[in-house]
Amino acid sequence: MTFTPYDRPVRAAFVGLGRIYDLNVRGYRDNPDVEVVALVDPSEERLEERQLEWPGARTFTSTEELAASGLEVDAVEALLPIPLHVDGVIELLGNGWHVNLQKPMCNDVPDAQRMIDAARANDRVLRVMENYLFYEPLRKLKATVESGDIGAVSGYHMKMVGSSRGGWDVPLSSYHWQLQQMQNGRGILVFDDGWHKLATALWLFGPVREVRAWIGGTEVVPGISVDAPTTIVWEHDNGIRGVWDITLAPDMYLRSDYYTNDERWEVTGQRGYARVNRCTGRGIQQPSLEVYADGEMRAFHALDDDWASSFRDSGRHWLRWLHTGDGPLLWSAEQAVDVLRFALAAYASSEAGGTGIDPASLPDA
Ligand SMILES: NC(=O)c1ccc[n+]([C@@H]2O[C@H](COP(=O)([O-])OP(=O)(O)OC[C@H]3O[C@@H](n4cnc5c(N)ncnc54)[C@H](O)[C@@H]3O)[C@@H](O)[C@H]2O)c1
Repeated sequence: MTFTPYDRPVRAAFVGLGRIYDLNVRGYRDNPDVEVVALVDPSEERLEERQLEWPGARTFTSTEELAASGLEVDAVEALLPIPLHVDGVIELLGNGWHVNLQKPMCNDVPDAQRMIDAARANDRVLRVMENYLFYEPLRKLKATVESGDIGAVSGYHMKMVGSSRGGWDVPLSSYHWQLQQMQNGRGILVFDDGWHKLATALWLFGPVREVRAWIGGTEVVPGISVDAPTTIVWEHDNGIRGVWDITLAPDMYLRSDYYTNDERWEVTGQRGYARVNRCTGRGIQQPSLEVYADGEMRAFHALDDDWASSFRDSGRHWLRWLHTGDGPLLWSAEQAVDVLRFALAAYASSEAGGTGIDPASLPDA
């Protein structure tokens, strides 16, 4: 790809103005690296509501309309329902626009390859943003592990409890496409939220050579099952093992400004451990990161542990990257395929009764 960095603010369009726009927009606010020139959504109501913040931006009810308008756009913030990712992104790239896409990239490897091929054919950048890699407590966890303060790493443990009481409202329309995803075998916990969790493992400890999983299901309303209880274990190429357990506590109230996930990330080292106590929700009211070593506990009280800040910083990183082209994209489309393969290996393992699956052994087509 022959990417040329911009020497002026990037002209950006938001495509999809639903729930997660509220967080993604934070990377664009008060940011001299960008000029928001267009807003696209089939909902007139959402266009009207979102345009209040960007009075200079033009509004469109479809990307076809935007492309036909002649308005100059450099990059798109793609906040589309997951089932529209593949064709939507191929169309956006085909219009000559760089794309910052939400996760999960898509449901299968051949579709991911089609998206990557479209980026190459159009000489555009496709980024699959991973905001968790910008969450300050997790960044500090990584720095702590790399500092050697807890000794050589013995293992990685993540915990996720899905609760449905508390947090912000999610529009019913979002559940429609989530249901479609579930019917396609890509559950909201293992695949949608799981994308983030598996990404943190790859980010911290590198490639994975074997995955074993036991994916369960719980009927939450008649006819609708969510993918818990689930346990996924894996081994990285460097021998470090990880485990992620997912459980449901539907009646548990959790204070949250966003989704009501009760989450934990813990790295055990040979001298101590480092643990992130929460992320999306405000579960445990302890400092968001605690590090224990040699009989002493260090507690980090001043980290920016508002989950929304991870969207702000991921967005800023992208817009700055378009100016410089330097450093990692976090993630590139190719790195996102590693996350996809990790998740697909978990499905393949569970279907085979929990046997070990090498993500690289999954067929490309
Ligand atoms: N990073 C995270 O933690 C995180 C959290 C939630 C959602 N997401 C991702 O963000 C994306 C959007 O999720 P959401 O929760 O905002 O969904 P949503 O359903 O609330 O919003 C989607 C929006 O896209 C619009 N839309 C539908 N078809 C369109 C089209 N053809 N062109 C333009 N707009 C169209 C809808 O009208 C709606 O406003 C998904 O990929 C989801 O996985 C990421």
